[in-house]
Amino acid sequence: MEFVFTNNINRKGTCSVKWDLCNEFFSAEDVLPLWVADSDWPTVPEVVKAIEQRTAHGIFGYTFPGREAEDAVINWLDKKYNWKIKREWLVFDNGVVPSINFALKALTNPGDGVVIQAPVYKPFFEAVANNGNELIINELEYKDNKYNFDLDDLETLLEERVSLGKKTAAMILCSPHNPVGRVWSESELNNLSKIAKKYDLLILSDEIHADILYPGQQHQPTANLDKQIDHQTITFMAPSKTFNIAGLHTSFTIISNAEMRKKYKEAKSGFAAGNNILGITALTAAFNHGEAWLEAQQVYLQENLQFVKEYLKNNLPEIKLVRPEGTYLIWLDCNNLPLSSEKIADFMKNKAKVGLNPGEWFGPGGKGFMRMNIACPRARLKEGLDRIYTAVKGLS
Ligand SMILES: Cc1ncc(COP(=O)(O)O)c(C=O)c1O
Repeated sequence: MEFVFTNNINRKGTCSVKWDLCNEFFSAEDVLPLWVADSDWPTVPEVVKAIEQRTAHGIFGYTFPGREAEDAVINWLDKKYNWKIKREWLVFDNGVVPSINFALKALTNPGDGVVIQAPVYKPFFEAVANNGNELIINELEYKDNKYNFDLDDLETLLEERVSLGKKTAAMILCSPHNPVGRVWSESELNNLSKIAKKYDLLILSDEIHADILYPGQQHQPTANLDKQIDHQTITFMAPSKTFNIAGLHTSFTIISNAEMRKKYKEAKSGFAAGNNILGITALTAAFNHGEAWLEAQQVYLQENLQFVKEYLKNNLPEIKLVRPEGTYLIWLDCNNLPLSSEKIADFMKNKAKVGLNPGEWFGPGGKGFMRMNIACPRARLKEGLDRIYTAVKGLS
């Protein structure tokens, strides 16, 4: 079966955050939206069919996930990452962001330090603030157009806190990383986990982007590194980015440590809704039938990425692509544009008329960068790049 990613489907007027809330975010209606992390093409045909069959039943009462959904997740994790989880480790949730908040609520105390590796997805900062934790920023190291963990800095930060008698309870890890696109290797994660073990850090591992990988990459679940790290890790995953079903608000959390799982469930109760009936249906169909579609999507994304790379090289050498290893989000180093870094975001929305996420949105280390979403038909991507090209030429 051939899958089509090139159709220019109109999403305006569908309550799409990406398309219908440009005015709220950019104060401009006429930007080309290349921001929010969803895709501009329909999900897997079998997912649509499964939802249609479920809606034909006509009754949408309270729902629990059931064995079929559990099996779909268990098999997917085994097949994709050779990660063999037990059924009881699984908790079905309504989104990774609420789950990270519940985990902090369950397993940290206000005032405890929580480490995040900036620049990173903004809701991590918000989760730390929501729970009254102390934010500890361990900036990623950016060298030769590539990002790495800065583990020396991490140890220094943690050691300093120990000497001051301050507790550091957890780290929120983004793996693969949004926005810098790194797919952390097993050896990098092992090095990080040595520090987590030494300082008894809980690892909240957000692996929502695990399935979108460029050739040669393999995702390593943090919890599956070894038994000890598994014991102190909570993993957050979802089919939402992979299969473009984020609006169905269905994710899952994996906690092998029974005591932590109990606390996590207690922290959730009273706050979280039950499961979304159509989300569970979609997750099951996507994991059971979506693999060929995902492979085709990966080919299209790879070609989009190549297209951007060549376009920038030939037309806009002032903008450097930080080439991602995973995710459909690309991180553009705009520091060589003839503009002060404070003005880049404003230039992109008001002069180029493209809706990109400003680097500052991702915290320290983000200034001078913009994040672009390439999960759209190539013609639209070209239009976005053409708009930037015209605006940049207008600067000289
Ligand atoms: C790293 C990361 N975590 C979580 C989310 C959102 O997850 P959810 O919609 O399940 O809350 C995103 C969305 O862009 C993301 O990039």
